[in-house]
Amino acid sequence: MSEILNTVSQGILTLSLNRPGKMNALTREMYAGLTKGLNDAAGDFGIRAVVLTSEGDHFTAGNDITDFMNNPPSSESSEVSQFLSALLNFPKPLLAAVKGNAVGVGTTMLLHCDVVVAAPSANFSMPFASLGLVPEAGSSFLFPQLVGYQRAAKIFFTGESFGADAALEMGLIAEIDPDSVAAVTRLALHIADQPPQAIINTKALLKARQHDAVAAVMKAEFEIFAMALQSDEAMQAFMKFMSKKGKS
Ligand code: COA
Repeated sequence: MSEILNTVSQGILTLSLNRPGKMNALTREMYAGLTKGLNDAAGDFGIRAVVLTSEGDHFTAGNDITDFMNNPPSSESSEVSQFLSALLNFPKPLLAAVKGNAVGVGTTMLLHCDVVVAAPSANFSMPFASLGLVPEAGSSFLFPQLVGYQRAAKIFFTGESFGADAALEMGLIAEIDPDSVAAVTRLALHIADQPPQAIINTKALLKARQHDAVAAVMKAEFEIFAMALQSDEAMQAFMKFMSKKGKS
């Protein structure tokens, strides 16, 4: 069974993270699957919107830490870089349904989505600094822009998590719904009924002002992130996670 489930219905592509036993922690193969799904959908006239969702009780625990240790992404051809680029450049409506933990890139990818609906169980966190790393996916620019510098700095510096109510108040998500998948799918179907070129043009206009700035920030973040992955601070944090439950 693939770790990215890919289903198409009524013009909506749903990409579902399917590694629930590991809290949907994202491997290189999963990033590659997401990138392919997004890039194929971008070029397929029949697809009007994409929904990101997950199997099990959680959205994702972020990047797989074993992958970070064994195969740290070091160039812009890496799977994670390709995924972030596909996210940034995706021209059609991108929606997400979030429940449970959304850690690291599980939260930062939402900054690129057009509409996010979260279940009351959703819990967001970006513990990059706590892991000896730095914010990624353009979040060092997009998150303070969304929530204000002070609140962003506090969240990045402490690694503290926040729930669905706080995410709604910040504007990270559009709605809270106990059945976030059903709510997002209803919305995606509604959007899919709209004139498609007008929707694509509207998204391009909404994103135009900051597209190049985000691309430049992502590039800078990636360079620092790749160095940080090799640091003692990161190694110690990863070893601590691995030793927590005798993980290997
Ligand atoms: N990479 C690899 N495996 C992960 C993972 C990750 N990022 N997050 C969770 N898992 C795995 C655990 O190893 C465990 O697998 P096991 O049952 O085979 O040991 C399973 O998913 C469940 O996680 P567990 O830690 O037992 O759940 P928990 O409820 O006690 O804790 C978290 C949940 C999210 C707090 C904890 O899993 C965690 O801190 N994960 C790492 C998050 C992270 O730092 N991500 C990178 C961000 S850049």
